[in-house]
Amino acid sequence: MGKKILVTGGTGYIGSHTVVELQESGFDVVIVDNLSNSRIEVLDNIEKITGIRPEFEKFDLADADLTDSFFQNHKDIEAVIHFAAFKAVGESVEKPLMYYRNNLNSLMNLLDGMGRYGVKHLVFSSSCTVYGQPDKLPVTEQTPRKEAESPYGNTKAVSEDIMRDFAKVNPEQNLIALRYFNPIGAHPSALIGELPVGVPNNLVPYITQTAAGVREELSIFGDDYDTPDGTAIRDFINVVDLAKAHVVAINRLMNGRNKNNYEYFNVGTGEGVSVMQLVKTFIKVTGVNLKYKIVGRREGDIEKIWADTSYANKELGWKAEKTLEETLLSAWNWEKRIRGIE
Ligand code: NAD
Ligand code: WQD
Repeated sequence: MGKKILVTGGTGYIGSHTVVELQESGFDVVIVDNLSNSRIEVLDNIEKITGIRPEFEKFDLADADLTDSFFQNHKDIEAVIHFAAFKAVGESVEKPLMYYRNNLNSLMNLLDGMGRYGVKHLVFSSSCTVYGQPDKLPVTEQTPRKEAESPYGNTKAVSEDIMRDFAKVNPEQNLIALRYFNPIGAHPSALIGELPVGVPNNLVPYITQTAAGVREELSIFGDDYDTPDGTAIRDFINVVDLAKAHVVAINRLMNGRNKNNYEYFNVGTGEGVSVMQLVKTFIKVTGVNLKYKIVGRREGDIEKIWADTSYANKELGWKAEKTLEETLLSAWNWEKRIRGIE
């Protein structure tokens, strides 16, 4: 029997890839997810990849009583990885309370439960969104956070503050926030991947759906930015590389290698890639004739951001390994599988 990890949001995009990596590293996993943005069939596919079906419980972590009873019934949990959250930036502007309630209450309920039942380690999904448009690039962990552009982004900043303050008065608890840059791609098996509901907001799902003929044409939002080709720049990180960073973070906590009881790390590749570069790379590696047009900038978008990953590389001993080419191919293979394209 391995050590047991609670993975909240474990049937979601990043969570499902992390469950696979945890199981392949010998951990036992119990997933909690309310399936508000994922499907139960993901469990079958995790089992196909790893040969192990993770335990699963469906409930809403924003419910304090249900979260408490869960911990009461699972006294063997040694650590938590908390992915469960709402993540649609635009929707959060329309429904701020729904976002604050879901994302903040679920974190606080988990911290309460951990304190009450003696679970000492937590890894949390934060985001590069906490940096806004930085004055200096690349961003290090010391780069000051900026006021969030959206309620969603603010839930990440406030969650980090909650973790920091909780850690201060609970010295036996150890917490890590991972600030993800832009996660893309899918498991090489093409059995798990990103399943956006409705019209995708994010670039890569929009590209793969356009390539699959589900969408007519990709719109590139803005080519008048202050960047070499005029399109915006991001740090696109392969989801399997990102998943592995969680296993490393959990091991760091369980082996007592953390330097403070609240730490935070940038998790990116360290490379800035423009939207146009990404589109051209996709076309090159897949051979698909992707239709695209340039349109105006999207409101709320930042111009450019990429990570300085030296602190994460050194402290965690973790580094992104996959190339952009193989990552985009993995995204396309996933899209083809779910659409039944050969
Ligand atoms: P996702 O929507 O695929 O996964 C989140 C999962 O959490 C879903 O399965 C959903 O059903 C579940 N969930 C949401 N609220 C819940 C609740 N109250 N109780 C139980 N389950 C609940 O999202 P993802 O892309 O895998 O993101 C995972 C985490 O990483 C989120 O916290 C997100 O904010 C963060 N993040 C994502 C990105 C990104 O671009 N995908 C970037 C930075 C940070
Ligand atoms: C990337 C670039 C778009 C779609 C969002 C959240 C952020 C984080 C990751 C969670 C931008 C351009 C996109 C399209 C395009 N999530 N684009 N045409 O905006 O960097 O970050 O997801 O924490 O908080 O804000 O990612 O994939 O939406 O966009 O030209 O159809 O692609 O304008 O420059 P973004 P994205």
